[in-house]
Amino acid sequence: MNAINTPRSDVVPTSKGAGSIGAVSLVGAGPGAADLLTIRAAKALESADVVYYDSLVDASVLAHISPKARRIFVGKRKGFSAMPQQDIQDRMRDDALAGHQVVRLKGGDPFIFGRGGEELADLRASGISVKVVPGVTSAIAAAAETGIPLTHRDVATSVTFVTGHTLDGSIPELDGLVSSKRTLVIYMGVSNAGTIVKQLLGAGVPDSTPVAVIERATLPDQRLIEATLKTLTEDLGINDVVTPALLVIGDVAALGVLGAEPTPPVHTNPELSEPFAWVHHPMG
Ligand SMILES: C[S@@+](CC[C@H](N)C(=O)[O-])C[C@H]1O[C@@H](n2cnc3c(N)ncnc32)[C@H](O)[C@@H]1O
Repeated sequence: MNAINTPRSDVVPTSKGAGSIGAVSLVGAGPGAADLLTIRAAKALESADVVYYDSLVDASVLAHISPKARRIFVGKRKGFSAMPQQDIQDRMRDDALAGHQVVRLKGGDPFIFGRGGEELADLRASGISVKVVPGVTSAIAAAAETGIPLTHRDVATSVTFVTGHTLDGSIPELDGLVSSKRTLVIYMGVSNAGTIVKQLLGAGVPDSTPVAVIERATLPDQRLIEATLKTLTEDLGINDVVTPALLVIGDVAALGVLGAEPTPPVHTNPELSEPFAWVHHPMG
């Protein structure tokens, strides 16, 4: 086996020499909240000539784009793509060949269910220099926001990220991915929740297994809905859950309440009372 020395990828070129070709940066925008954008991502946005961005990227993140840059929306709205995938890749290649610094801005992390791998391979095959700037993937952010530890020494020794929606609309094989001490996080799983539940119950997973649904994680209207495999589909309907949302399945999902606001201290001596009121904001 050869060891390959991979140089750091944090230097985003900012100036175009005469006749030089540009480059593409695949940049993770994080889960939504602008303060979860990495410094490296913000720098890439500030120095880009053109930014191709997806629907899940919040306006507060787009505010980092240089006013001089061209912004091109290429996401999906109501199931329709603003631009076919091959056209996005072709246009980014042409922009880079014309000498521009191109940013492809994607929700979360570009390599977690973000088609970053396809774009990287396609552009490099055309001789374009491509850098990848990681982002905080929504599962990690959603877990942190709701106090759900995806792994926990006593409760879960592994976590698996799965898509609930493959290219042909089916769901992947989940058998064996949830058991005691395993956590499953399903991206894009809300519309297929019924099939997911059926598959897991059929594989012998108890219907009492906790499920947390986290909707619009890190955004001001974020919600946590606590369910079990038995109640999941009903709870999704009752709460009118919208995308983007994630399903966290496994015993850790029941620990979410531990992340709620701390219980106010109770003082019997009025002189020790807090000078401010503690307010408990339940989620959902
Ligand atoms: C096409 S995938 C992109 C995932 C993204 N690359 C990432 O790393 O988070 C879109 C799915 O990610 C999940 N997602 C993205 N942002 C989210 C958020 N703020 N809250 C909850 N789920 C989110 C949802 O399951 C959504 O359907």
